[in-house]
Amino acid sequence: MAIRPIVKYGDPVLHTPAAPVEQIDDSVRALLTDMVETMYAAPGIGLAAPQIGVGLRVIVIDLSVGEDRDQLIQLVNPEFILREGDQQQDEGCLSVPGYGGTPVRPARVEVKGLDPDGVERVYSGTDLLARAFSHEIDHIDGLLFVDRLSPLKRDLMKRRLRKRVREGWET
Ligand code: NI
Repeated sequence: MAIRPIVKYGDPVLHTPAAPVEQIDDSVRALLTDMVETMYAAPGIGLAAPQIGVGLRVIVIDLSVGEDRDQLIQLVNPEFILREGDQQQDEGCLSVPGYGGTPVRPARVEVKGLDPDGVERVYSGTDLLARAFSHEIDHIDGLLFVDRLSPLKRDLMKRRLRKRVREGWET
């Protein structure tokens, strides 16, 4: 188990659609373990594999941030089976530290995917859970919350972020 560095806005892996996982083996289970540990350490309520530099369709979500292990969701190759309604709330991202926005998200979602044992799971969520699924599945499609803002806000934030990328995130 290891906490992995979280890559930041501007890294190509965050802006490229991730590849499906062909087979759930020990390397995928190790990836999931590292993702959960990295999410808890951040701390965050969700993480997608591209955020640790791995271009695979793998996400983890835990609205309790480790307080209640029953809330931990680990999904390989997640996809929407339903997206319904709209909601708009403040949102941030571990890969865009210090920035936030209010993207339009579905009010209710149903998502299916494979668990670490390769068993199909279906989750439904509203409110924060629906936003988290939408945010993390966007990540594996190469999209960040910034890409979901209104054109005016998006352009303004992208100008600021390009400057941050030029200057380097760590400074
Ligand atoms: Ni994010």
